Amino acid sequence: MSDLKLNTEEITAALQKNLKDFTPDLSKQQVGVVEEVGDGIARVSGLPMVAVNEMLEFESGTIGLALNLDEDFIGAVVLGEVDVIEEGQTVKATGSILSVPVGDGLLGRVVNALGEPLDDKGAITNSVRRRMEVQAPGITGRKPVHEPLQTGIKSVDSLIPVGRGQRELIIGDRKTGKTTIAIDTIINQKGLGVKCIYVAIGQKASTVAQTVATLEEFGAMEYTVVVVAAASEPAPFKYLAPYAGCAMGQEWMDNGQHALVVYDDLSKQAEAYRQMALLLRRPPGREAYPGDVFYLHSRLLERAAKLSDEKGAGSLTALPIIETKAGDVSAYIPTNVISITDGQIYLQDDLFKSGIRPAVDVGISVSRVGSAAQIPAMKTAVGTLKADLQQFRELESFAAFGSDLDAVSQAQLDRGYRLTELLKQGINRPMSVQEQVVSLYAGTSGKLDEIPIEDVNRFETELLEYMNSRHSDLLSKIASEGSVPEEELESCVSAFASSFVCQWSAPSGY
Ligand SMILES: Nc1ncnc2c1ncn2[C@@H]1O[C@H](COP(=O)(O)OP(=O)(O)O)[C@@H](O)[C@H]1O
Ligand SMILES: [Mg+2]
Repeated sequence: MSDLKLNTEEITAALQKNLKDFTPDLSKQQVGVVEEVGDGIARVSGLPMVAVNEMLEFESGTIGLALNLDEDFIGAVVLGEVDVIEEGQTVKATGSILSVPVGDGLLGRVVNALGEPLDDKGAITNSVRRRMEVQAPGITGRKPVHEPLQTGIKSVDSLIPVGRGQRELIIGDRKTGKTTIAIDTIINQKGLGVKCIYVAIGQKASTVAQTVATLEEFGAMEYTVVVVAAASEPAPFKYLAPYAGCAMGQEWMDNGQHALVVYDDLSKQAEAYRQMALLLRRPPGREAYPGDVFYLHSRLLERAAKLSDEKGAGSLTALPIIETKAGDVSAYIPTNVISITDGQIYLQDDLFKSGIRPAVDVGISVSRVGSAAQIPAMKTAVGTLKADLQQFRELESFAAFGSDLDAVSQAQLDRGYRLTELLKQGINRPMSVQEQVVSLYAGTSGKLDEIPIEDVNRFETELLEYMNSRHSDLLSKIASEGSVPEEELESCVSAFASSFVCQWSAPSGY
């Protein structure tokens, strides 16, 4: 027999070594089961620890978002292909909350509500991830709005000024120029150091493509990101897109920069949310919206802010858009959003149809914080514009009855027609603040009173050409210092006015 001996010590040592090196390649994971699926909603059981807004992963790799946490089931919306999900399949809890890429790498890109590229420019680089939904900045971290956010639209910048960090609602019926105002505001940010996010919700993909082409044409995509949840996409994408856009803007704000986000439009987001809520079997309330539809918009718009100096003094301005039906601003969603914004730009269908474009109703539009954010030169130029227009509108209805007017009233009427003409502005032609100052001053100081209405437009164009060629120093002074001595403005505009040749006042042969 061989002298094979069992050496207990060797065995123990070997065992101990093996035990020490042993690491189980197992990880703990919660796995649930799909109980029911349909209409983009999955009901999942067996995931008791999942949090609201946590991402779930279906067997097919599709991502879901946990929204309803009931006692026995989780109601989740499917963010992707639904057809491949079947009852009985397993679902994993990922433990992570929904996030999107944010940062300068997104500039110039067109992405979906999850921040995934929709353009052909490849993967997104130079970005970090940020939670889609976060708490809004608190009161102590904020500072009053005090810097202007130049929209480049004369009627807005003069009478309804918007400040950086403000939430100004653009509201009106369909086809009244809401999108145009928002896009022109983005175009006007060129060179002003404001990064822009345009969130297109529930629009036709071809319309969005057109908008992107416009932004590209004016060189605005360099500082803009477009987030798209098109009409054809499932409701959850339309619900999430605004939060994604907001997260991108907050990243810039938190880094001491200025950002502008446009939500076009929140009516469609609310409709998408209603659809989801009904499918998730949440109890419907007024107009079949779920009870928390107010919170849908308030938690989004509260995230726009002007941060305090300690927090870097960045800002996020929000321009939400709401579409009304037949001018009804007292419907559920419009009243909600009106109550949580710092002002409204009302666009009227009848003004639009009568050729007053942009169709801003300056009588009822307001900006609750804006005038504190107007540069002094603009205040000088605006003068009594608002009151003048108000009186004009009252007189105009009188004049419509053919009543005889005294000289003073006639003068007010003449001024009003010219100011109205002056505030008209074509699409994609935002005007710099220094040019607006000159142009508005001409109107409010009465230089247009003698000019035939048909010539107002040409007067303005030629005045600005004149100022740009002869007094560009004054224009740049307004831009850099923000103020201008009235006498200087007066002498320049008067000099031009006396040289202006009217084409309509002296028809040949008279
Ligand atoms: N200031 C304007 N001057 C001339 N046309 C305008 C002006 N604003 C908008 N429009 C035109 O009116 C139409 C509707 O405008 P849009 O901004 O898409 O409206 P909404 O977003 O309210 O539906 C577009 O064809 C646009 O070119
Ligand atoms: Mg629109």
